[in-house]
Amino acid sequence: MSVTEKVPRTATRLSFKDSLKSALPVQWHARMRSLGRLRMITKLRVLAYSDVTLRDVRWEHVRYVLWDPEVESHTYDVANVDELAEFLADLLGCDVGTARRYLDEGVRDVEFDERWRSRLGRRLDLKSRAMLGNRLLWWGLVRILKPALCVECGVYNGLGSLVLLRALELNTEEGHPGELMSVDADPASGWVVPPRLADRWELIEGTTADVLGPTLLGRRVDLLVHDTPHTAENAEHEFGLALSHRAARTVLLDSSGGRTGVLQRLCEEQGGRYARFVDVPSNHFRRGSGTGVGLFTEPEAPC
Ligand SMILES: C[S@@+](CC[C@H](N)C(=O)[O-])C[C@H]1O[C@@H](n2cnc3c(N)ncnc32)[C@H](O)[C@@H]1O
Repeated sequence: MSVTEKVPRTATRLSFKDSLKSALPVQWHARMRSLGRLRMITKLRVLAYSDVTLRDVRWEHVRYVLWDPEVESHTYDVANVDELAEFLADLLGCDVGTARRYLDEGVRDVEFDERWRSRLGRRLDLKSRAMLGNRLLWWGLVRILKPALCVECGVYNGLGSLVLLRALELNTEEGHPGELMSVDADPASGWVVPPRLADRWELIEGTTADVLGPTLLGRRVDLLVHDTPHTAENAEHEFGLALSHRAARTVLLDSSGGRTGVLQRLCEEQGGRYARFVDVPSNHFRRGSGTGVGLFTEPEAPC
């Protein structure tokens, strides 16, 4: 996919899933999630929401309803890693081989396989191995750019935080220290992150509307992931704050693939480069809308 491709702007509307969630107090979200594999009615709803009709049903759908632990924030292996390497190389001006090596490292990292299995492999609500899905793009960006401060808006179980923290740990071992600040309204979020990785992690409880601004005072944001519900209001607030605290080079990620059009507009208005990458799941029925990426570079910053 071309890195300059634009997606149409659509009106902002909460998804069916987000509407259901917003009706429940946040403390209930973790209780419901822990039932994982047993939530077959919810999984049937996920299939219906994904436009799977009775005529389309295949073995992968049956397997999902009977066995898969995930009813949201789906994880999968990425089939088009080659395309992702080309995308990152083009966007960041590095060579494709370097990008590919970093991505392979993420796919095979011990944290997402052996360590994950031994800590979390027998739970009802998690897969036995961590599959990075769209977070493989985050991994590649952090390993290539060596950011000093990453911000994650929306944490959920903490798989994204784990991916970012492990990449930051490897950067630190190579002489490029960095830290992660994560914000989530749910006090139970972030529990898959092991204490070993938490010393470079600030996990803040609250809505991004309430807590992100005060927490960023005096700091520069190198990378921000917008992964709260994809409303224009959230996107505007989170991206706007990151841009008012921008570093020499700041990357903004929209994990809805640019559904609200906010990131594309900010790129046009503030001289950023907008691109979108659509990852292809190799072992999942979900077809995501990809990740929108905004790259903002000060004229004198090195590429
Ligand atoms: C899609 S999940 C985040 C997924 C996570 N980044 C990952 O990689 O697995 C969205 C999260 O946003 C949180 N959330 C919802 N509204 C929020 C808000 N206004 N501010 C902060 N967090 C919010 C929810 O509690 C939920 O955990």
